[in-house]
Amino acid sequence: MAITAERLPAATYGVATSSYQIEGAYDADGRGPSIWDTFSRVPGAVVGGDTGDVACDHYHRLDEDLDLLAWLGVDSYRFSIAWPRVQPDGAHLETRGLAFYDRLVDGLLARGIRPRATLYHWDLPQALEDVGGWAAREVVDAFARYARVVAQRLGDRVRHWDTLNEPWCSAFLGYDIGVHAPGVRDAARAVAATHHLLLAHGRGTRVLREVLGADAEVGIVLNPAPIRPATDAADDHAAAMLADGIRNRVWTDPLLRAAYPDDVLAAWEPLADLPALHRDGDLDEIAAPIDLLGVNYYRPHYAGARTTGHSGDAPPGPGQDHLVEVDGPGPHSALGWSIDPSGLYDLLTRLHADHGVPLAVTENGGAFPDKRGDDGEVADHDRIDYLAGHLDAFARAAEAGADLRGYYAWTLLDNFEWAEGYAPTFGLVHVDRATQRRTPKASAHWYRDLLAGRGADI
Ligand code: FCB
Repeated sequence: MAITAERLPAATYGVATSSYQIEGAYDADGRGPSIWDTFSRVPGAVVGGDTGDVACDHYHRLDEDLDLLAWLGVDSYRFSIAWPRVQPDGAHLETRGLAFYDRLVDGLLARGIRPRATLYHWDLPQALEDVGGWAAREVVDAFARYARVVAQRLGDRVRHWDTLNEPWCSAFLGYDIGVHAPGVRDAARAVAATHHLLLAHGRGTRVLREVLGADAEVGIVLNPAPIRPATDAADDHAAAMLADGIRNRVWTDPLLRAAYPDDVLAAWEPLADLPALHRDGDLDEIAAPIDLLGVNYYRPHYAGARTTGHSGDAPPGPGQDHLVEVDGPGPHSALGWSIDPSGLYDLLTRLHADHGVPLAVTENGGAFPDKRGDDGEVADHDRIDYLAGHLDAFARAAEAGADLRGYYAWTLLDNFEWAEGYAPTFGLVHVDRATQRRTPKASAHWYRDLLAGRGADI
């Protein structure tokens, strides 16, 4: 479906990245180890044995990457701060690490690009994992102290903040099914991590407001997704309902309604000591008002029940052993993910109807084969189609009344795609892994032209 500059809703447009996926320089300037440094060294944990040691070497190529952002013409750049650069042991300040983000922020502002900072995109200092990680309540206060240090240093220039990126991944991929760092498989710890991540967000939000004042924008980035029943069977509908609770409502309801959903509590009650975990006052802290909910969207999901004959893995997240995550229909991206912009429309209009909260799409993009031609160019028309289709859904959701403030394509550079290593490429800009040479793909030129075509009033 065609998207034109005229159809883009008035909003902030940009690209997003995260620290561990692009920075490299894993031991530069006093940086401490994160759980991803540890996990990526576990044999078999990451495809090809890849690590983020070098990644895109963004730490040493900052100016070149800032110039790429300026060339793209984005309004805003969403990046994350590496906690183990700022507090290598999770407690003591390393000013050289913080100074890198000073240079990044100043470089953005000098180019007229608005910074949007995420405090935590999965690189927990290993020292904090050693005391229990997100399953331990102490880490909540460690996060609040880290938030204060960063906000005090950057808050005069960064006015748009997100506390956490996709706590679903941290809690469930990290502590339930163990395919992400720290690689734990323990339902009780995953339930505890869920609560402590939510609480860290709430406490971090309070700190950010104290330091930054009333006019700063504070939010959180989730990865909610439409969950569709695999078939019309009643058990599959029930499966999709519970899967929706554990994927979506267990995050949005505490954050935006100060309550856990009853169906998820019932599923988790046998797995963890909820009365000990959920203390009085926690939900009030978690539900600290936010200015914006960030939504990362890649695809819809499909859930079925084992009783209706589905077999395979349950969706990530405790309490779903009787469910099966079913592959979605094609077309698919290079990771086998369904390409379906209607899911983005459904999600944005639902979040608007349920919560009325201002929204931004903080990540959206696709991995595609990206063959380089003899001329060195990457003609990634499949990525252009993906982005165009999703921007069309974004525009339709705005027309339907959703309060949409921003859209960030994932991602600027081909980078370290977590447990999948470097093979899947999501970048608008190709990165030659041997030389680190950056080459904008056709999609980068397309996005640049689209943004440049907007009227001066946007
Ligand atoms: C999201 C992550 C991001 C990236 C994309 C493909 O879940 O937030 O870091 O890996 O998926």
